[in-house]
Amino acid sequence: PHIYAITPTYARPAQKAELTRLSHLFMLLPNLHWIIVEDSNSTTPLVRSLLQRAGLEKRSTQLNIKTPPEFKLQGKDPNWIKPRGVEQRNMALAWLRTHVDVDRHAIVFFMDDDNSYSTELFAEMTKIKPGHVGVWPVGLVGGLMVERPILNEDKTQVVGFNAAWQPKRPFPIDMAAFAISMDLFIKNPQAVFSYEVQRGYQESEILRHLTTRQQLQPLANSCRDVLVWHTRTEKTKLTSEDALQRQGKRSDSGMEV
Ligand code: UGA
Ligand code: MN
Repeated sequence: PHIYAITPTYARPAQKAELTRLSHLFMLLPNLHWIIVEDSNSTTPLVRSLLQRAGLEKRSTQLNIKTPPEFKLQGKDPNWIKPRGVEQRNMALAWLRTHVDVDRHAIVFFMDDDNSYSTELFAEMTKIKPGHVGVWPVGLVGGLMVERPILNEDKTQVVGFNAAWQPKRPFPIDMAAFAISMDLFIKNPQAVFSYEVQRGYQESEILRHLTTRQQLQPLANSCRDVLVWHTRTEKTKLTSEDALQRQGKRSDSGMEV
């Protein structure tokens, strides 16, 4: 089956580095379609040329929608006070609901731009059955080395999760921990992301419309393999660049970094 990866992304110093890493993953994976949704008022030449140079024009869709200012993080805000990627993921879901052939089995995965993904993860996703949500462990998240589903004795069903952070959530897992059979989005048009949820509840919010814990399909060697890591890139320090700019100069004039 075809896999649609949905990536919200926003302009910041490390954006091109993050997206370059992801674009090279797509170059290795011909059954992937990349829906990249920029958090901006228009699509940018940076993203467009990146897709072109990776040869991904035909299997990517470049969209944009800006997060309304009241929901956008401000300079010194801790990153957890507002959910990120809500508007962008919803736009991608709307695009999928109108553009994907409902009779063809497809998989949807929410692929943040800063995580680290193994190509093997995408091979696992192709095992997701129609009408199902596949789940697997995620490394380096929620204050643990690995967050993972706990399975029953014969390894066929999820009976719990090992989450330490907010374990009472209906689905105490990260966005990178699951992928969804596209038919579920067609059957459940009310399944969208929302700002009106508590911190850390985005994953539960979308999944509660689509599946139950009992229906989750365990993947990645019965949830024993880690094929994705919730890495986060350090905020780029630009003290000397700021000093240059105060003198009307910059290190990157005429260059895209
Ligand atoms: C965690 C989860 O892994 C995210 O999937 C979830 O959206 C987020 O928490 C949340 O609770 O909202 P975290 O590493 O804290 O992720 O979030 P980021 O990686 O900073 O952002 C998630 C995605 O949204 C990224 O692809 C990022 O590029 C995008 N984003 C972030 C925007 O499009 N606009 C922003 O202003 C910030
Ligand atoms: Mn992240």
